[in-house]
Amino acid sequence: MIADRPISELMRSSSYDVDAAVPLAGVAEHMSNGGIDLVPVRRDGVPVGFLLQADVNRLEEIVDTEAVTVGQVMRRDVCTVRVHARLSAAVRAMSVSGAGVALVMDEPRIVGWLTALAAMRILAEPGAGGLSASEVRAQILEEHVHLADQLKHVADLAGATLSGKTDAVAQLRSRGVMLYRELCDHLDVEDRILAPALGDTPGFGPLRKQQLLAHHAEQRSELREALSRLESGGGSDVEVASELLRLVAVIRDDMAQEERDLLDPNLLTDELINVSFSG
Ligand SMILES: [Fe+2]
Ligand SMILES: [Fe+2]
Repeated sequence: MIADRPISELMRSSSYDVDAAVPLAGVAEHMSNGGIDLVPVRRDGVPVGFLLQADVNRLEEIVDTEAVTVGQVMRRDVCTVRVHARLSAAVRAMSVSGAGVALVMDEPRIVGWLTALAAMRILAEPGAGGLSASEVRAQILEEHVHLADQLKHVADLAGATLSGKTDAVAQLRSRGVMLYRELCDHLDVEDRILAPALGDTPGFGPLRKQQLLAHHAEQRSELREALSRLESGGGSDVEVASELLRLVAVIRDDMAQEERDLLDPNLLTDELINVSFSG
């Protein structure tokens, strides 16, 4: 049962947290440069909240980030769970306290976090008593729409960088890091929900599943390698922009092929008998 899995296997790891009293500016810069989506916040050592990259982006436009502290703008709907806790215990803790995020503690360190939304997605997976084939298809297509937006954004920044706009470079590097991470997360979701759904398709189901997992393993190692190069600041601006443009083209092709071959509504159908793909 997925609900019995330890939270440590399902959380996003975290090695950076901040005190509520520090100004937002430095933290915002660190998040942006490191492509960090969420930062846990402590007061007197006790976890009290978290900052989301999406919130920070909005705040940067409306407040003086040097003048406000993290504690003034953080979200407070947080709870803590121990690193050995099971997913079910983390979900209960979030539900009882109304928290949107569970911070995972290996006392005294905060070692990771899990959002309520991510927990719901994990619990909704097939095998957890969850999604039908058509629901899997809808969820993956939805992720593709979101990724297509991210790809366009990175392609625009890479284009601007290559045409000499130096103010695009910092954003290109941080958005590039975020894109690599989102693509890795997408592979994880597809492995967890699309692979089993494909395995159940008629005809060559097990082969489709096996090919998807093998292709993702290859993609994952390439993405991780490129991510660590980018995170370590390697490569000139032009090299980074060119590599990201190549990545955008490859991922666009890959998504189109996946949508054509694997996300066909006649293949991922809730009907029991499937004529078109049964050969
Ligand atoms: Fe994929
Ligand atoms: Fe995909």
